[in-house]
Amino acid sequence: MIARRYHDRTAHSPASVRASPHTLDWDVKPFPFKIYTELPALALPRDLDALAADTLAALARPAARAERLGLAELAAVLYHAAGVTRKKTYPGGGEVLFRAAPSTGALYQTEVYVVAGAVAGLEPGLYHFGPGDFALRRLRAGDLREALARAAADATLARRAATVVLTAIYWRNTWKYQARGFRHLFWDSGTLLANLLAAADALGQAPRLLAGFVDADVNRLLGVDPAREAALELVLLGPEGAAAPPAGALAEVAHPYMPLSSAEVDYPLLREVHAATSLADADAVRAWRAACASWPAGGGRAAPPSRGRDVAGSGAGGPPPRPVLSGTDPTVPLPPPRAESGRGLGATIQRRGSTREFSHEPLAADELATALRAATRGLAADVPAGCVDLYLVVNAVTGVAPGAYAYDAGAHALEAVRAGDFRRASAHLCLEQPLGGDAAAVLYFLAPLDALLAACGERGYRLANLAAGVAGGRAYLAAYALGFGASGLTFYDREVTDFFAPHAAGRDAIFVTALGRSARAARATIEANVTLPGRPAR
Ligand SMILES: Cc1cc2nc3c(=O)[nH]c(=O)nc-3n(C[C@H](O)[C@H](O)[C@H](O)COP(=O)(O)O)c2cc1C
Repeated sequence: MIARRYHDRTAHSPASVRASPHTLDWDVKPFPFKIYTELPALALPRDLDALAADTLAALARPAARAERLGLAELAAVLYHAAGVTRKKTYPGGGEVLFRAAPSTGALYQTEVYVVAGAVAGLEPGLYHFGPGDFALRRLRAGDLREALARAAADATLARRAATVVLTAIYWRNTWKYQARGFRHLFWDSGTLLANLLAAADALGQAPRLLAGFVDADVNRLLGVDPAREAALELVLLGPEGAAAPPAGALAEVAHPYMPLSSAEVDYPLLREVHAATSLADADAVRAWRAACASWPAGGGRAAPPSRGRDVAGSGAGGPPPRPVLSGTDPTVPLPPPRAESGRGLGATIQRRGSTREFSHEPLAADELATALRAATRGLAADVPAGCVDLYLVVNAVTGVAPGAYAYDAGAHALEAVRAGDFRRASAHLCLEQPLGGDAAAVLYFLAPLDALLAACGERGYRLANLAAGVAGGRAYLAAYALGFGASGLTFYDREVTDFFAPHAAGRDAIFVTALGRSARAARATIEANVTLPGRPAR
């Protein structure tokens, strides 16, 4: 399959990394914001809901359903998913505007659009969200929900108040990561979705994620150039009302926007895997959803059943069986996850930032347990459960012996793969980055990729990377809620699977998230472009 070939061709190994001739061309570093040059800005309200609901409670239980979605709630969702939360100025004068969600290389290729139909205070239409000036720009006027509902083969979309559409601009990421960037599109939109879903849940907006849609139709509706930018996911928001009227034929739109850089490099391998994982028409979307429904939920390490998961089940095929481990009882029960963190969701997102250096201080077992539970929660989505399994290296967790483990989410327990001190090995696996060795625990998301592709087709490849991104993003949120830190990490593909062998047989490494306590004092500059309680606007 094309996705399998792509995955293997973009795998990292010590040899491939050393042999790579790629260097960063700073003269063409892509600008991290999409600026429509001819469209007026519609300022979003800056007095935002602080999302005071406890972070862990918000992750576990959605608030009571809101009766309406207004511009203020939409602004709060957009800010906590993709807003600029802080600015860092470097000695040479460089400046990075960091966002609410982590993103590989701080390149921020994920763009956010809104198809609004029944949002109080906002005319129906298609809008682009600009995090830089915290504003919307209208790309199309009128109610487009019915057209989007057809493209998503989901009639409820036409009744929900709005749908957020995430896209990615390839070049922003491939500038650094080349063709491997296709994986990053889903990791990074996944971490953004972890925030977006939590924020929308905290506001009672009942978010529902769709990973299946007719790619060409959604891209045409957005007016993006599919050779450069493509839709990745949709999130339905807000209460259901009357169905939107038929939208009729849509004219082409192509509003001018600022070029990202003076030159771009095309990566045909990325476009090839994007095309192979695309769905051609609504029938293909429906068939894909039906095929995914046969994917066994969790494959033996299932997350506990959760509200709103609408595709799950068991059937023929599925992930490889778990091998039986020899020796005495290899199961390590974990303490119950904490129900509350004492920190509101908004405050957690505002203070989140990837940990740049971990101390060797241990985590408590219930801190780890809470992060694992958060990472493996179900999704209200057309994404089946069990797309990735969670393995981990424990370096320093009180009450858990150092070693390699698999997390059994159903039993909320660790299965020992191998005992030992693996700090050096884990740093090596994480592309020789010290973070992977210094962290208290390192979560490795592995997918039963061939089985998933057999069940869900080529688009299953997107699911594996997306599910891992969301899970990693939720681990980040749990960590910052509890007062420790996290960082996403990249890795040597084959070596990760070999490290967790034989337990991980039949699985491929998809994404890594390290957890631990920061070795450094509080993060530097924090500057938000919105007003949050206790902080003046800038
Ligand atoms: C999917 C993903 C992979 C990442 N991989 C690495 C990595 O390999 N090494 C690293 O130091 N940071 C990594 N990061 C952290 C990013 O560099 C960081 O999110 C980005 O610089 C933005 O900073 P912030 O998270 O502090 O807001 C990763 C983050 C994500 C979301």
